[in-house]
Amino acid sequence: MPRLVYVLNGPNLNLLGTREPQVYGAQTLADVQRLCEAACARHGLGLVFQQSNHEGALIDWIHEAGREHAAGRLAGVVLNAGAYTHTSIALPDAIKGTGVPLLELHISNVFAREAFRHHSWISPAARAVVCGLGVAGYALAIDALAQW
Ligand code: DQA
Repeated sequence: MPRLVYVLNGPNLNLLGTREPQVYGAQTLADVQRLCEAACARHGLGLVFQQSNHEGALIDWIHEAGREHAAGRLAGVVLNAGAYTHTSIALPDAIKGTGVPLLELHISNVFAREAFRHHSWISPAARAVVCGLGVAGYALAIDALAQW
């Protein structure tokens, strides 16, 4: 049974490809999933790839990843929480509550954007942060957590 990587995507990431392509690029979420599948295959890892526009769904998947972690089957979680990064207390509570090793990811360089994107409630609960590498960051994130 391969160790698992959870790649969780938050609100509006279903619109990748057409959403502000000058910021997020032209690749779709299906393209990102394919990148993640290829990266996981290279490392012999299994992939759970999810997207939701609802905070509670993301929390439920973190809890699910937490159960895999407790069973010794989790390599780690890659979380692009979208705008919930800047608003949610419940997401870092879920990360801390489950103890999952988690990498926070942003496609864009949030520090080169509006001031309200400079603060992340998730970063203090994350093991690492990748930001500004475009969708290629997802594959690099998986390369990193394959070593965890
Ligand atoms: C994002 C950055 C967030 O500020 C924004 O709300 C998103 C996407 C990124 O991937 O660059 O929805 O997380």
